[in-house]
Amino acid sequence: MMLLGSDHGGLDLKSAIAGFLSERGIKFKDCGTFDSTSVDYPDIAEAVAGLVSRGEAEAGILVCGTGIGISIAANKFPRVRAALVTDVFMAQMAKEHNNANILVLGGRTTTPDKGREIVSAWLDAKFEGGRHQSRLDKITAIEKKFSC
Ligand code: RB5
Repeated sequence: MMLLGSDHGGLDLKSAIAGFLSERGIKFKDCGTFDSTSVDYPDIAEAVAGLVSRGEAEAGILVCGTGIGISIAANKFPRVRAALVTDVFMAQMAKEHNNANILVLGGRTTTPDKGREIVSAWLDAKFEGGRHQSRLDKITAIEKKFSC
């Protein structure tokens, strides 16, 4: 299951992405926010990244104004690899090399059209494994070293 989430700064782009996922026949759960009232991006990051971290969802897409705050928050969760992406090449790399399980975009930096291209590239790309897996294993080792 794919999860979607944004704060107020990412609401419009999240709505565009939801439409795009529906067009592609991809099922998703929208974890909010649902209107333009100001909300705190760490709360939205937790709603999505918490479920991905616990293995209760496969992947997610998060949006805030720039994508910066919500990606910082999402990456606090074990097993989450949230990648803030601003173009198609980064989207491909985020999956092929980093196996990003959360794609992050900026609602104030990325147009709906560009957002669709980015989401499409990330969905279509495949993790390459090999040397990239050993690098991810090192990230997991760092997580374990610093967890209680
Ligand atoms: C909210 O105004 C804004 O700070 C937030 O959407 C995001 O850009 C934070 O990184």
